[in-house]
Amino acid sequence: MYRNEYCGALTKKDVGREVELAGWVLRRRDHGGVIFVDLRDRSGYSQIVFNPDASRDAHALAERLHNEYVIRIKGKVVDRQENINPKIPTGEIEVIASGLEILSSSETPPFQLDGHASVNDELRLKYRFLDLRQPAMLENMVRRHQLAQAAREVLNTEGFLEIETPILNKSTPEGARDFLVPCRLQPGSFYALPQSPQIFKQILMVAGMDRYYQIVKCFRDEDLRADRQPEFTQIDLEMSFIHQEDILALVEKLIAHVIGKVYGKTISTPFPRLDYRDAMSRYGSDKPDTRFGLELVDITDIGKASSFKVFQSLAEAGGIIKGFNAKGGAKFSRKDIEEEFTGYAAVFGAKGLAWMKVSEAGLESNIVKFFSDEQQAELKKRMQAAPGDLLLFVADKPKITNDALANLRIKLGHKLGLIDPEAMNLLWVVDFPLFEYNEDEKRWDSVHHPFTAPKAEDIPLLDSDIGRVRSDSYDVVMNGVELGGGSIRIHDSAIQSKMFKLMGITDEDAQVKFGFLLEALRYGAPPHGGLAIGFDRLVMLLQKCESLREVIAFPKTQKGSCPMSEAPSPVTDAQLKELYLRTVSTQG
Ligand code: AMO
Ligand code: AMP
Repeated sequence: MYRNEYCGALTKKDVGREVELAGWVLRRRDHGGVIFVDLRDRSGYSQIVFNPDASRDAHALAERLHNEYVIRIKGKVVDRQENINPKIPTGEIEVIASGLEILSSSETPPFQLDGHASVNDELRLKYRFLDLRQPAMLENMVRRHQLAQAAREVLNTEGFLEIETPILNKSTPEGARDFLVPCRLQPGSFYALPQSPQIFKQILMVAGMDRYYQIVKCFRDEDLRADRQPEFTQIDLEMSFIHQEDILALVEKLIAHVIGKVYGKTISTPFPRLDYRDAMSRYGSDKPDTRFGLELVDITDIGKASSFKVFQSLAEAGGIIKGFNAKGGAKFSRKDIEEEFTGYAAVFGAKGLAWMKVSEAGLESNIVKFFSDEQQAELKKRMQAAPGDLLLFVADKPKITNDALANLRIKLGHKLGLIDPEAMNLLWVVDFPLFEYNEDEKRWDSVHHPFTAPKAEDIPLLDSDIGRVRSDSYDVVMNGVELGGGSIRIHDSAIQSKMFKLMGITDEDAQVKFGFLLEALRYGAPPHGGLAIGFDRLVMLLQKCESLREVIAFPKTQKGSCPMSEAPSPVTDAQLKELYLRTVSTQG
């Protein structure tokens, strides 16, 4: 045995015990004659004292120790008496070493391992084996493990079967670009890595598995952001003979259980629900952060009637004018508003940001003169304006107006200190439209994926007003992040074919892409539906991290690379030849 105790587990109860510990040298301090070493393992650290009076040999060897050396010690636990360190769990004891063995030396780490205040991310990822030794990263990994286990607990109890689905796949329908893998045995053919197990989990329902889950890797070749990785993990589930309500209830139970079990916090269920249209109208977003107010208000009518040219012309061209009351925001300077806030709104396409400060005297700004007294009174009423407030408006196409204001609202929520960092606001956004119009391709695309069922009462609209058809789909949102999404599926192959037609997918195309699902649907498909939770996002939110990279052991950078392994990398000509592939230069 290398050890009989963990470094972080020793307490006053162990005083008097002979222990053997193994771990890494966190730091070493030489106090002339006596050497102190903080010895760290996964559980924490303890102070080890090398005193020549206790062991001349151990003390002599300890002079050679540096940070991150791996050592094994033998010693006696003693009470620190007056030198207690209340900041650490083992702060009441120390271990007087009687023996020391150096198991491994270490080069000097490229950064300090006691927090990562100013270390750049690229360096942390290159030396991920060191980065993961840091307490915050270790905690993220431990919590991630606990959350996965807690999720399994609920799903196992609820009668779900954990079934693996293939990684080498046919292209799947989540709408991102596929990662492709060439097939050596069939030159010119490719597998696609799964964007999700969507089709396979539906086929498992047709196969009678009743309830399926998997904590599973998904792969999507899309532009990366703080909450997007090219490979990520879903808690993926599917159920048969259920309605939407059954799935929502199950997912609420799942989320409440994992948060309760791992963090000891009570999440109240059922979660509030917002209709997609309400979410867009009140927050400009289908993933609203409901931890604070500052809701959007439509003032298109007032803007249109005013004499402010920008508002008039945009409203007449079919645009909308919305705004929100940044409560207490009159304290911001004109520079804040016209440079910082306007610049931020511009990132989302807004061509300007109109503002009005509210004082006892009334509304004040460069554009107030374009609004009559009645219009100003109506604005104040609708925006619930009080002295000290700041009103911000954007006029543009609906998508830009909503997008710019939704993002600005979050920024102001933070700036005005309205967001309680401890809050966990979970809600459902339901009744998404089934289709959205793709301006570039001039066709209707599915909002969720093409297997999502239209609402029964909206089926007649499929032939008359396709844009108004709602779907049986739902997203679970936490603190402004889309945590998961799912839908009730079409289990009737005739409706499924109709959907493909509406999206401009020919029978032939559908056959090539999803033929095996369509075939399965013709052999007795139960009503079914499901959902997938973005597991990395769940861990990120619960651990209060800014990026998915903090909660994934070996994540990718923005460019999709791994600085540690240096993936992706060129391969040899021999490998390419074997696959019947040739690369072409992208230069020129
Ligand atoms: P969807 O595409 O909405 O649904 O994905 C479900 C959840 O997965 C997470 N997610 C991501 N997390 C990190 N990086 C990414 N690139 C990424 N993309 C998605 C999000 C999202 O809510 N098959 C359907 C589910 C179903 O219908 O049952 C699906 O994959 O948290
Ligand atoms: P201008 O007429 O360009 O001097 O703009 C007057 C004010 O209206 C400025 O504060 C602009 O930021 C604002 N503004 C211009 N275009 C828009 C728009 N599309 N939506 C909201 N405000 C705008």
